Amino acid sequence: MSMATHSETSGLDLVGKLLDPASRADPYPVYAGFRALGPVWIDEISALVVTGYRDCETLLRDPRLSAERWRHFDEARESDPYPAGAPSSVRQPWFLSMDPPDHTRLRRLVSRAFTARTVARLEPYVTRLVGDLLDRACERDTFDVVSGLAYSLPVTVICHLLGVPAADERLFHGWSAQLTRQLDGFSNPADETPKEAEQWAGGMVELHRYVNELVADRRGSPRRDDLISELLAAEDGGDVLSHDELVSTIVLLLVAGHETTVNLIANGVLALLRHPGHLAALRADPGLAPAVVEEILRYDPPVQLTARVAREDVHVGAAKVPAGGLVILLLAAAHRDPEANPDPDRFDPGRAQVRHLGFSAGAHFCLGAPLARLEGRVALAAFAGRVQEPRLVADPPPYREHINLRGVSELLVGHGPR
Ligand code: HEM
Repeated sequence: MSMATHSETSGLDLVGKLLDPASRADPYPVYAGFRALGPVWIDEISALVVTGYRDCETLLRDPRLSAERWRHFDEARESDPYPAGAPSSVRQPWFLSMDPPDHTRLRRLVSRAFTARTVARLEPYVTRLVGDLLDRACERDTFDVVSGLAYSLPVTVICHLLGVPAADERLFHGWSAQLTRQLDGFSNPADETPKEAEQWAGGMVELHRYVNELVADRRGSPRRDDLISELLAAEDGGDVLSHDELVSTIVLLLVAGHETTVNLIANGVLALLRHPGHLAALRADPGLAPAVVEEILRYDPPVQLTARVAREDVHVGAAKVPAGGLVILLLAAAHRDPEANPDPDRFDPGRAQVRHLGFSAGAHFCLGAPLARLEGRVALAAFAGRVQEPRLVADPPPYREHINLRGVSELLVGHGPR
């Protein structure tokens, strides 16, 4: 039997454990192993892994680190994945992976259209939608929270917000699922099979073609009350979004806002079912929902990590990342740093203070956070209020293969009479 302690386990061993499918149900012991090592440079993956809360928060605001991490991976790609004739917008980078001043410019323009007011106005719509989904789901004695509630909600809401015709929403469901892997920090294109790369690029091209048409259609018609029209009208000191920037931003909103929110809802329902006292408290007082959402974002966050590239040599504690090296910020590990959150392995929505980086920090702080919080809060409060005597059918449930975007693929719940 191995008697290895954390301090004898190397960073590379831990990367191996993290990639092992057996860790999907509970990666937190692996994160604890990383925390015990402190910031660690792992030569074999040319990356520094950081798990301390203060280190992660500081590095997310450090201008010596660049958000252009996909360039790192794109350079590993052997050939151009897009077919001839693909719309030029597929090559327009997302501002998620841009640095100032380009990032600042695009984010400012998009923020003018996607405001807190836009989101607040959605609450009655989201509440109705969640009610309808739960009514339908509860018709069966056992239902899947992922397909019955969590999966449909974010994509339906973003389509409604953008002004996508209801009949076309189905198309978005398919594309969104196909494209999420782009966001997974460990989906290295160099490891893709040619078939996977082709499928991914094909989905991306179809979605861009569709959004190009949608935008062209809006340009030619009177202004409507939807986000595409707002983005078309957004202006900052005479500056506007180019056509490709606009299309690429719409694709980003769809991809960044989908699986993340699916996982917030499903991880949230799972945590509540495992902690029936907190579920009962939420049922008795729906006003607790915002605190539950913040605790989920800390305890089992939908985005487990993010990455940056060092522009120059950067020292973090005793470790160093050389210029060009990757910095992996293990946010989900940082959330369980006892210096940030006491008794961190306990799920407790009643904490006096919840410190998390679930929406990142600094310039790239999630632009969709108000929308994600709204959807999470409405969905979890409605689940607690409407589903009688819920019980988990399988624990642990099956997980998706992603390392970064953590979530279950199915969450079967049995329930009592309505
Ligand atoms: C950025 C998490 C929902 C749009 C981010 C980042 C994180 C994150 C961690 C920053 C990544 C980094 O620093 O490298 C989440 C989580 C969500 C969620 C956990 C759900 C629970 C949404 C929604 C939308 C959205 C609903 C929009 C519809 C964006 C955009 C960015 C972003 C546009 C890029 C911001 C920038 O680079 O300036 N999100 N997100 N997200 N998110 Fe979200």
